Amino acid sequence: VPGLNAVANAAGKLYFGTATDNPELNDTAYTTILDNNRQFGQITPANSMKWDATEPNPGNFTFEGGDVIRDLARRNGQILRGHNCVWYSQLPDWVAFGNFTFDELIGIVENHCGTLVGHYRGQMYAWDVINEAFNDDGTFRQDVFFNVTGTAYIPAALRAARQADPHAKLYINDYNTEGTGNKSTALQNLIKELKRDGVPIDGVGFQCHFEVGGVPTTLVENFRAYEALGVEFAVTELDVRMTLPETDALLEQQKKDYQSVIDACMAVPACVGVTIWDFTDKYSWVPGAFPGWGAADPWDENLVKKPAYDGIVIGF
Ligand code: XIL
Repeated sequence: VPGLNAVANAAGKLYFGTATDNPELNDTAYTTILDNNRQFGQITPANSMKWDATEPNPGNFTFEGGDVIRDLARRNGQILRGHNCVWYSQLPDWVAFGNFTFDELIGIVENHCGTLVGHYRGQMYAWDVINEAFNDDGTFRQDVFFNVTGTAYIPAALRAARQADPHAKLYINDYNTEGTGNKSTALQNLIKELKRDGVPIDGVGFQCHFEVGGVPTTLVENFRAYEALGVEFAVTELDVRMTLPETDALLEQQKKDYQSVIDACMAVPACVGVTIWDFTDKYSWVPGAFPGWGAADPWDENLVKKPAYDGIVIGF
């Protein structure tokens, strides 16, 4: 098999990609796989373009970490997804606890998105402009942005991003929106409103952080509803975690789960590509975020391919 991106391209998709993170780039066994653009045609920085990394103090922008990932992708001929402009997490205290007025916070959002997206102008395939804006019941998350501005920060961020880089596709990214349900309906309603109001919105990111055996059965039905709204979409952060220790049975189910996500992307033309949230269990965020869970990626901790790898190939 020539590699996952080659297989995805042959199947008509724009890319198969992976997240990566700056501390991992000293590991040459890791980067040998990362740098192979037959394997990964797209890169997402897992942390180094987030707000805490790029504007730790008001108006003080630093792009060092992000630029390292940008340079790596450019060297390898890999396209980039920017991640992300506005998110309640990994947000510096000066934003989260700033006690800003409506106008002040809108200005801060516009300046952050405009400066960040503008720094990478012409170099990004897409940006996750808005990340995780909803609660699981479909109401808006009561974060600082919503509490101060209502939903006004969303068009403000999107318009600032469009102005800063007219070539980047502007996405809204979230989790638990992959299957049908209240949260997905709420996201679809937001997309409709933005389009009605002439706000730039090009795409929807489905994170797809799943549990083994827990891939929603309504993926295709749900994906088609977004296609019908006239937006493209992508699987942006795929991984499939299991309770540890891993067993052969869990690994076999995981293979099926990866395959069914790829199958769903293949079933809906508006799905442009798939990104896994790093490719090896060695650097997965899962054990840190979900104690007792892990083994979520297609390569194991020793950088050896797991059955999930074949599930991806079969899916395309
Ligand atoms: C995760 C990173 O992988 C971790 O390294 C970090 O500690 C926390 O964030 N949804 C997202 C990503 O949109 O930004 C998150 O990334 C995973 C969940």
